Amino acid sequence: MRILVLGGGGREHAIVDALLRSRHAPEVFVAPGNGGTASIATNVSDLVIDDPDAVATYAADNNVDLVVIGPEGPLVAGVADAVLARGIKAFGPAAPAARMEGSKAFAKGVMRRHGIPTGESRTFAERKLDQATYYLRNVDYPIVVKADGLAAGKGVIIAKTQEEAQAAVALCFDGAFGEAGEVVLVEEFLKGPECSLLAFTDGVTVVPMEPARDHKRAFDNDEGPNTGGMGVYSPVPSIDEYTVAKMTALLQRTVTGLYQEGIRYRGVIYGGFILTASGPKVLEYNARFGDPETQVLLPRLTSDLVDVMLAVVDGTLGDLSLMWSGDYAVSVVLASGGYPGPYETDKVIKGVEDANAVEGVTVFHAGTALRADGALVTTGGRVLDVTALAPTLREARQRAYEAVTKISFDGMFFRSDIAANPFGSEA
Ligand code: GLY
Repeated sequence: MRILVLGGGGREHAIVDALLRSRHAPEVFVAPGNGGTASIATNVSDLVIDDPDAVATYAADNNVDLVVIGPEGPLVAGVADAVLARGIKAFGPAAPAARMEGSKAFAKGVMRRHGIPTGESRTFAERKLDQATYYLRNVDYPIVVKADGLAAGKGVIIAKTQEEAQAAVALCFDGAFGEAGEVVLVEEFLKGPECSLLAFTDGVTVVPMEPARDHKRAFDNDEGPNTGGMGVYSPVPSIDEYTVAKMTALLQRTVTGLYQEGIRYRGVIYGGFILTASGPKVLEYNARFGDPETQVLLPRLTSDLVDVMLAVVDGTLGDLSLMWSGDYAVSVVLASGGYPGPYETDKVIKGVEDANAVEGVTVFHAGTALRADGALVTTGGRVLDVTALAPTLREARQRAYEAVTKISFDGMFFRSDIAANPFGSEA
């Protein structure tokens, strides 16, 4: 079996690692991949992964049996559709379903039509700044301003005052997020701890993974700007089975609602939930595996990931249940100085082998590459995900941070409080 994985982050390294544990013993290609995937699979650095035709042609020419789509860009661009049209299996939703991530206004519409609890919101299209200004005079603060489309995690602004909210709307309409900001949502600010619940779905059956908690702010104590995620752990001891069942029911209702509207969703549906005093509410959906959530979920998955993906694609997920190791997982992100703002790259990374030698630890690569001289160097903002498994959350955390001490590169920074407060409300 030949599998092509699209993407080059820590999420894709963790996906490749899990695929290679399969009884199907697949040959795995990764486009573009990174310094970590280069040592376990074949990197394909010159494929334009947002181009549906280019990906479908590559897959057909290279006898690929399954294309696994990691990031949201190719999903929203219609890569799954193009691959399926060539008779090749694609893991990841087709473009109409990927709109659940590609358009926040579309996702809100689905939630409204199918009674999914979420924050109150208003949508402003066609750069209607006057209407937004009028609305912003009569709402409670803080409030959340969101660019409708994909903005690499940057299009969500929490405004504490009317002036900040107005400036955020103007920023979107002035093109700061390109086309993504042509439509703007103004949404109620919801209070409570966050939880990521990802599920596999074949469009009919929804099978949840275990809950994970991401830490989105750059610095300790949830200070600093929002990032793609600075660390994560799973499972989350403070989230009981009853709450997981409620979140799962909301994901099932979403997928069933889409099916009733003629949209069959196949792949991973990621619910970003906020656990409010009146129960879980959906903050957002992602149409893919989370990053860094995948780095703590897939190392704990003991089911064969290829079998799960084929069941999703073939519509037989109802015949399958997921198996998980009893361990806890903690992952600490090592980032380039300056991230999520501007940062330098091409810094030599030392100590990854020593970190990998710590019991229970796997270092997933995110923004790395192997230079022509053989050195492992930084290429991105989030550089490495140091992930540890252990029978308790405390031990997993100790192992992860012990491994972190082995690694160094110029400007490296990380949060020191990942999973430090598992019964608190970190988000
Ligand atoms: N962890 C956030 C995301 O994957 O979007």
